Amino acid sequence: MWGIDVIYLDNAATSFPKPPEVAEAILEFLAHKAGNPGRSGHSLALAADAVVSETRRSLASLLGIRDPSRLAFTLNATDALNLAMYGLLRPGDRVVSTSMEHNAVARPLFALAERGVDVVTLPCAPDGSLDLDDLDRELRSAPTRLVAMTHASNVCGTILPISAAAELAHRHGALLLVDAAQTAGVLPIDVTEQSIDLLAVPGHKGLLGPTGTGALYVAPGVHLTPMRQGGTGTNSELLSQPDELPYALEPGTLNTVGIAGLGAALRVLKATGIEAVRAREAALGARLLAGLQEMRGVTIHGLLDSTERVAVISVTLQGWEPVDVGAALDSAFGIAARPGLQCAPLAHRTLGTFPLGTVRLAPGYSTTDEEIDQTLVALRELSLSAG
Ligand SMILES: Cc1ncc(COP(=O)(O)O)c(C=O)c1O
Repeated sequence: MWGIDVIYLDNAATSFPKPPEVAEAILEFLAHKAGNPGRSGHSLALAADAVVSETRRSLASLLGIRDPSRLAFTLNATDALNLAMYGLLRPGDRVVSTSMEHNAVARPLFALAERGVDVVTLPCAPDGSLDLDDLDRELRSAPTRLVAMTHASNVCGTILPISAAAELAHRHGALLLVDAAQTAGVLPIDVTEQSIDLLAVPGHKGLLGPTGTGALYVAPGVHLTPMRQGGTGTNSELLSQPDELPYALEPGTLNTVGIAGLGAALRVLKATGIEAVRAREAALGARLLAGLQEMRGVTIHGLLDSTERVAVISVTLQGWEPVDVGAALDSAFGIAARPGLQCAPLAHRTLGTFPLGTVRLAPGYSTTDEEIDQTLVALRELSLSAG
């Protein structure tokens, strides 16, 4: 759609291509607005501040956030997740997570466990789904500070029931942190309606912005101790980090260039509509799944129903190691896919695909039907010739 010469099926890592408006906004920002927001009163600082504020408002409204100041910009989703978990959890706190988490959740929790946080990992089913009765049982068994879970698996696309998890978490006095790395910009999210306490999003995947962008939402009443301290342009007379959001969580100069690009991406996304994006991606996913199901020697890992998953599809080919399929798709067919563990070893243990992993095919909004069909032809050819 936006004119590239590879078949790009690695949108779960970062979306590509970005809408042309993103590059245009970045150039325009660098040429005319690139002051340091919030640091001075001159016109360039104000121009930069206006871009940052507008992007913050736009992202807040997309996610159902009533007070945009409760949305802090971060480097990526990993950064947002770290801010949330290190900011909230103390030795002796208990956190319940799932076996479908990306290392962006699993590794901080592993490190926090070494500092005395009690980490419980709920096993999910081999299709990636979570049984809410298991979560309920776990929350009943001991006082819990936080439930930390992904909204959708970055390996097999399974959507986890975050609204029901929020209800259970709150019933048992816990907060809910959602890793929306695979769903922001792809599935409708409303933190207010869904009672989400902490939401981490990347700007560079489904939101179609540049790399180096992300954000963390912090619900009213939730206090995070900042992991980093430094200049905020506010309360400069104090040596302590200001409490006021978003500045408490945004020390140092922001990635204003990236935020300008993200602002443009959000305008494109809003003009398109999340429902339209979801419908398009579901159709692409369904087309890919239908073709894969017809192939002998190809195993699809995860759910087949497109209403219960996002378009992140993992397969293995009989007689092939995933890494070799990835290399063959790239070199012989010009198809960019992601083989291996996709930074989610726990998820692969759950799916039974550890340690070799899978080949992940993740179309995006701009993927065409023809590209899906060409991918199916390539995979069929590979499946007929064992590696
Ligand atoms: C489920 C999930 N969580 C977190 C991340 C980390 O996102 P980022 O690369 O923006 O830090 C990813 C990235 O692949 C992901 O898929």
